[in-house]
Amino acid sequence: MSSSTASLLALASMVTSAAAAYQGFNYGSTFSDGSFKVQSDFESDFKTAAGLQGTDGAFTSARLFTMVQGGTPNDPISAIPAAISTKTSLLLGLWASAGQQSFNNEITALARTIESYCAQLDGLVVGISVGSEDLYRNSPIGIEAGEYAGANPDTLVGYIKQVRDTIQGSCLSKVTIGHVDTWTAYVNASNQAVIDAVDWVGMDAYPYFESTRANSIAEGRSNFQSAYDQTRSAAGGKEVWVTETGWPVSGKTVGQGVPSLDNARTYWRQVGCSLFGKINTWWYTLQDSAPTTPNPSFGVVGSDLSTAAVYDLSCEGVNTTPFNSPTARSIGARDAEDGSEGVDSNVPGQGSRSSTSSLGAGALALVLAMAMV
Ligand SMILES: *[C@@H]1O[C@H](CO)[C@@H](O)[C@H](O)[C@H]1NC(C)=O
Repeated sequence: MSSSTASLLALASMVTSAAAAYQGFNYGSTFSDGSFKVQSDFESDFKTAAGLQGTDGAFTSARLFTMVQGGTPNDPISAIPAAISTKTSLLLGLWASAGQQSFNNEITALARTIESYCAQLDGLVVGISVGSEDLYRNSPIGIEAGEYAGANPDTLVGYIKQVRDTIQGSCLSKVTIGHVDTWTAYVNASNQAVIDAVDWVGMDAYPYFESTRANSIAEGRSNFQSAYDQTRSAAGGKEVWVTETGWPVSGKTVGQGVPSLDNARTYWRQVGCSLFGKINTWWYTLQDSAPTTPNPSFGVVGSDLSTAAVYDLSCEGVNTTPFNSPTARSIGARDAEDGSEGVDSNVPGQGSRSSTSSLGAGALALVLAMAMV
């Protein structure tokens, strides 16, 4: 093969993977005071994300935690018609940590989504996640962190089968199914059955929370790389999607992890800009402080929904190295071999307190919402 053919092929594959990578944010079903979002709220969210200054309209995908509209037993979440009207792609999610009866409502809402929206969903559904950080919450560190109940691997495998049966023969039959969890859950061999049951692996990683090793913003990129490499190796060739990551703009210091606008901006540049357009990524998060601000707070916009972010989101001029490139992998491997930071894939908890944050705006709101139904 001539070198020009080779570079053309390389270019073609870059173009293909860029076109294939989804990019967006995570969206809970409620505001931070527990009130339920309705269709117009989701529409405002999605339009704001797509209009964010400095991002060239690239944030057009939404990851959801539940199929159920807040305040109803099993109506489809109004984020779905909002996504249709704004042409936002969706990583659907079913909440899997509240027992079989609650999961049946998630399944009913999925079935009703198919009934009501099949004709309009064409191409918009990127994937379906069965669960979110359920294995983390089921582990000793999750329990120690006082998290809500999780789910064990067998339960999740059963739920995954239920979802496959539900979408069979429908407009969603070709949509791939995954699970979202902290990277530490995937490196725990007892959870292998979940990896075996899914089509792709959704990884949550928050170097800010990784207080069991050096975790200042200076280690942000290498700690993320290490989490991604370990998850890829556990996933055994299945695609790894980045379902949550981010650095807080305000709040408490965790180990050496200090929230600030500058640090959030640095993490966006050093991690985000290397992910965007290359690996499916749903950042944490667009907004988590309406109306009240959680501690820590991760929103790229403040309490007022505005396309002017609280820090500069531009990736222009940023020197990026994709995390799945050979160069990035060898850097990651060196980090792991070096061992000076105590990276041990068998020890959970390195960065896995991420549910503190995801529960902050997404899941916690959902749990509250469920308690209110
Ligand atoms: C590993 O996973 C199993 C199954 O989810 C769980 O019971 C166990 O607590 C986990 N171990 C650790 C150390 O996290």
